[in-house]
Amino acid sequence: MTGQNLNKAIQLLKQGQIVALPTETVYGLAANALDPEAVASIFEAKRRPFFDPLIVHIKDLHQLNQIAFVRDQLEEKLLSIFWPGPMTILLPKKSIVPEIVTSGLQKVAVRMPSNPLFKEILLGLDFPLAAPSANPFGFISPTTAAHVEQQLGQTIPYIVDGGAALHGLESTIVEVLEGKVIIRRLGAIAIEEFEAAGFSIDIKISSNSKPNSPGNLDSHYAPRTPLQVLSRSQIDDGTFPSDAAFLLFKQLQLTPIGIATEILSPEGDLVKAAANLFKAMHSLDKSGASKIIAEEFPEIGLGRAINDRLRRAAFKS
Ligand code: TXA
Ligand code: MG
Repeated sequence: MTGQNLNKAIQLLKQGQIVALPTETVYGLAANALDPEAVASIFEAKRRPFFDPLIVHIKDLHQLNQIAFVRDQLEEKLLSIFWPGPMTILLPKKSIVPEIVTSGLQKVAVRMPSNPLFKEILLGLDFPLAAPSANPFGFISPTTAAHVEQQLGQTIPYIVDGGAALHGLESTIVEVLEGKVIIRRLGAIAIEEFEAAGFSIDIKISSNSKPNSPGNLDSHYAPRTPLQVLSRSQIDDGTFPSDAAFLLFKQLQLTPIGIATEILSPEGDLVKAAANLFKAMHSLDKSGASKIIAEEFPEIGLGRAINDRLRRAAFKS
């Protein structure tokens, strides 16, 4: 069931149940992060392998101190600049965090969300919330309550409707190691924003099946329809079956017409394109197309994170 009854969400969470909640990135499937059984039911609902750890969402720095150690000035600086917001940081965990949350890893992924409904729910609880994206494992992330309803409506008791997600891309995951900020997952905060704030950045994103970060699995964020990523000139020069669908960046004079076409930002704005990406993928996936042709984005700003999602959506093992 979908609605805006925050009290209902709070009561269900207090009972150890899972509730889908809006965040500023994508919708999350939340449960009490300190209750191993509640966390186990998230894995069950998503059919997610237990080797894939979860992000813990906190309301304030007091709650952060309950679950993790902050020992580095760089970490403190990152938190003070980018929280609340779409940055997740890996920090040494305290023993109160169950092993099932971190898949046995020594560090826990933590984020302070800025979505007002999510914040209000956290304020009604005295525990933090573990929440992965609210989609079946490996499938496209949800950016509206309707996406969650379609994918998981049968398996979860309640979905809080907070409208379309602001960023539409998952949080950027960072880790501080030896005086450097390491990017572990490209996301809603672009690398350029960290650099503008004075951080020196290293990008270390695994592009294989390393068990400790399945959001970086080669195949992830995938529609059921086969998806192929091509450059703009390949699209302009190519011939495609009449039942192909197109996922394009901006409006150009020669826009190919398929069975369905989504233009992510007619005016060519990367932030708007990111916000529309998963919604467009959901809709093209339902169009009946035999394949989805996606345009490669410029490798700047959020274009990098969009390309990352498109390549994983396209990957065939
Ligand atoms: O924006 C987001 O981050 C959304 C919203 C709901 O907060 N959440 C999200 O969660 O994207 P999920 O589970 O779909 O992706 C979390 C990623 C996974 O790739 C996971 O492997 C990685 O974070 N992760 C979680 N805990 C980790 C840890 N302790 N060490 C390394 N990677 C971790
Ligand atoms: Mg996910």
